[in-house]
Amino acid sequence: MGIKQSRYHRQKQSPPRRESANTQTASGLSQSVNSITIDGRQYHNDQTSTYILPKDEIEQDRLNSQHFAVKALFNNKNILDSIEKSLPKGAAILDIGCGTGCWVMEMAVNYPEHNFTGVDLSDMFPTTIRPENAKFELMNVLGGLPFSDNTFDFVNMRFMATAFCTNEWPMIIKEIHRVLKDDGVVELMETDFPENDKEPLISTKLGSLLEEGNFKLIEKQEKGLQYKAPMNALTRELISCWKLTVLALKPLLAKRLVQNPDAYEALIDKYIEGLVEEHSKIKIVAYAARKITQKEHEKNDEENKGKEKEETKEDEE
Ligand SMILES: C[S@@+](CC[C@H](N)C(=O)[O-])C[C@H]1O[C@@H](n2cnc3c(N)ncnc32)[C@H](O)[C@@H]1O
Repeated sequence: MGIKQSRYHRQKQSPPRRESANTQTASGLSQSVNSITIDGRQYHNDQTSTYILPKDEIEQDRLNSQHFAVKALFNNKNILDSIEKSLPKGAAILDIGCGTGCWVMEMAVNYPEHNFTGVDLSDMFPTTIRPENAKFELMNVLGGLPFSDNTFDFVNMRFMATAFCTNEWPMIIKEIHRVLKDDGVVELMETDFPENDKEPLISTKLGSLLEEGNFKLIEKQEKGLQYKAPMNALTRELISCWKLTVLALKPLLAKRLVQNPDAYEALIDKYIEGLVEEHSKIKIVAYAARKITQKEHEKNDEENKGKEKEETKEDEE
């Protein structure tokens, strides 16, 4: 299909190489950032994280393209309507796994009255030029969010399916709940994998994860796409992003899928062609939810107990 082929192939094939550099975070802390280069692609080298996508220019391009395609898909909006309506003046907003920071940067320009913090494991975000109401910090959120309880009015987290293992999600949701103020809101967005018959894991579990984590769901939006020729520009962009994702997974997948690693790219070409031939469908799901406070939780518990008592009484009569 040749999607973004020339850019991808511009990278030189080379053996794994370790690098380290010092990065100054927005909080003023100096941190050592380790990278590993495999086949010309640069990956993070944080042993405490299982995240497997790269952090180089190709990946940054992919994330930026995906950002604009997804925004176009969701009616040219970066947040769900219910979130927008619920933001107080001067809201404190956190974006977890902010990637290149394009969501934070755009939001900070569009909402100059709010203050934005983006956090990420990889140093892909802008360090010098950024709006005054935007800052970024380098961190692995699997160690917990280093913010006090009740700090943020809104937490955004998007496309983290490759970042957390299944058993890590409840901890992250718990942390989001903790750092949100009472009445604070969260938006989660995830996509499924574009096989025809497989149900994705996390995009189908977001709603129940939030409810189990003491959130009240307030909005859900789901956008579907089909990889079928002829494709419009948006679908072309998203399948190109998907192809780049799978190409970036080479260090993980090539060993399992092909005898000769050089055959990996050709295999992925075939796989993508197959998705189009089979008219594969994908969906992107976004949830907005409001934090249920301890008080509300206790009140709901009391009400439920009251109802249960009445029902038992009625049964006895
Ligand atoms: C698929 S990208 C999505 C980026 C961004 N949310 C977006 O929508 O463009 C996932 C991001 O999560 C970051 N990430 C993965 N594991 C992380 C962790 N444990 N702590 C912080 N960031 C993490 C990655 O570095 C990457 O930038």
